[in-house]
Amino acid sequence: MTDLASAPATSAAARAVDAVKTYGEGDAAVHALAGVTVEFPTNRFTAIMGPSGSGKSTLMQCVAGLDRLSSGLAYIGDTELGGLNKTQLTLLRRDRLGFIFQQYNLIPTLTAQENILLPLTLAGEDPDRQWFDTIVSTVRLTDRLGNLPSQLSGGQQQRVAVARALVPRPDIIFADEPTGALDSQTGIEILSFMRRAVDEAGQTIVMVTHDPHAASYADNVLFLADGQIIDSMPDPTTDRVLDRMKQFEA
Ligand SMILES: Nc1ncnc2c1ncn2[C@@H]1O[C@H](COP(=O)(O)OP(=O)(O)OP(=O)(O)O)[C@@H](O)[C@H]1O
Ligand SMILES: [Mg+2]
Repeated sequence: MTDLASAPATSAAARAVDAVKTYGEGDAAVHALAGVTVEFPTNRFTAIMGPSGSGKSTLMQCVAGLDRLSSGLAYIGDTELGGLNKTQLTLLRRDRLGFIFQQYNLIPTLTAQENILLPLTLAGEDPDRQWFDTIVSTVRLTDRLGNLPSQLSGGQQQRVAVARALVPRPDIIFADEPTGALDSQTGIEILSFMRRAVDEAGQTIVMVTHDPHAASYADNVLFLADGQIIDSMPDPTTDRVLDRMKQFEA
């Protein structure tokens, strides 16, 4: 474990070493992460599955610098997050990470286009117009760019959130149930696009999902239970993920 922690360069876009996250104290303590060591390889699509409360969101939040571990190490590339102060963490998230959550977190007073470009605007960077157009047309928002979030359907709002994460080409995108609130057709389009972003644009994606079909788009599925990784499945199919989930429930 310690040799992993001290190893300098890695091909992992993000990783955790002996990650522990405990909420509360004494009898009320909840071990959301009970010692997780994991790598999220660069240019790969990783899915995280497991029962409700198994620690999926906690793992993602701690590796993405949105929350701090109780003990252990979390890295983005070679940067150890525990050593960063709040401002450094904020800048790292802004400059290197993309996020897609089930709650879209769009700014209600900004148009779809302004929301999509917001991460770049905040970083003072100009968008790659061609990449912007490719993403916007793939998520079918070209004729909705001037609309406010309140003028968009739930699925359209989620597509704005997906575009916002992809446009800056972050080192890694963290997605927590990104298709959970979408109709199945829109969900499939977004998953296909995430897959293409990995295969054709070198993107790295980590996605929490409860949906075996969504997980089948990943290169590897990690299964979490009680704050620990209990299994993984390379090259998953919907049926094999379903079978594996049944085993865990038994
Ligand atoms: N802020 C918090 N305070 C106390 N306990 C928390 C907090 N956040 C999470 N937990 C607990 O940590 C455990 C893991 O929660 P987490 O949100 O990571 O689960 P999850 O696998 O994402 O579940 P779900 O599939 O329902 O989203 C749960 O038992 C949860 O109740
Ligand atoms: Mg969760």
